[in-house]
Amino acid sequence: MKPKDLTSKIFIDGGDPEETREIMGLLGFLDGQTTNPTLISKNPEARKRLDRGEKFSEREIIDFYHSVVKEISGMLPAGSVSVEVYADPETKAEQMLSQGKMMFGWIPNAHIKFPSAPEGLKAAEQAVKDGLRVNMTLCFSQEQAAAVYAATRGALKGNVFVSPFVGRLDDRRENGMDVIANIIRMYRKSDGHVEVLTASVRSLDHLLYAIKLGSDIITVPGKILREWAGKGLPMPGSDYNYPAAGLKAIPYKELDLGRDWRDFDISHDLTVKGMKNFSEDWESLIRHTKH
Ligand code: G3P
Repeated sequence: MKPKDLTSKIFIDGGDPEETREIMGLLGFLDGQTTNPTLISKNPEARKRLDRGEKFSEREIIDFYHSVVKEISGMLPAGSVSVEVYADPETKAEQMLSQGKMMFGWIPNAHIKFPSAPEGLKAAEQAVKDGLRVNMTLCFSQEQAAAVYAATRGALKGNVFVSPFVGRLDDRRENGMDVIANIIRMYRKSDGHVEVLTASVRSLDHLLYAIKLGSDIITVPGKILREWAGKGLPMPGSDYNYPAAGLKAIPYKELDLGRDWRDFDISHDLTVKGMKNFSEDWESLIRHTKH
């Protein structure tokens, strides 16, 4: 059962419907799911196929992703399921948008993931005008979250998520949870149309601190959800302190959310690296036919 004082929505970060089923049973609730190309490349059915030496054709991998999110969506009819477009650092906004429109039609509860990079922001700006729900992924800075807010102005609350990645900042000894705290603080002075989705969660402490900060949504790998369930779904008390020792603090910045999104410096090397990694993991599934 969901702890009664838990206001954050809890999503699973995964690409395997069996795991989603297992975690729903363990927690007794689940509010949604996020997927991405890397997680789909780890799906057990996909792995079995690759182990047999059978890669997917371009059509087959799209159909496979479709079937996975359809099964998950059926388990979470009242929740949200994030589906990510293919986006390498050269992919144009128009290509992202057309994929996003196709994926949005797959299930009734999709949020389409676009990268928090210039072409992704352009795609999202148009997508929300066209009535799509979006989840802006690979966000690593307060500036990127400010740009997401500005690019999606006018969208209904619930239609836009921004996903700051905590663990990948921690990996280079920057305090990823500071970015969550800073974005939540910045959005307090906003119309609230963008929801903060804490992503790249690697530990129970990431989950507990995100709950304490009041992150709207937290997407958590099955492994951490099993650990949380095994301990009886503990909540952070008023005396909870996040162990940030050894991590460099990321200071809060005063940013004007009334500006055009193009005014913010949204460049981030981890966004570019993340796009490269996601697209490589996707490509690793595909058998390209030579012409
Ligand atoms: O939700 C995004 C997440 O899957 C990324 O996590 O552990 O690859 O940084 P990670």
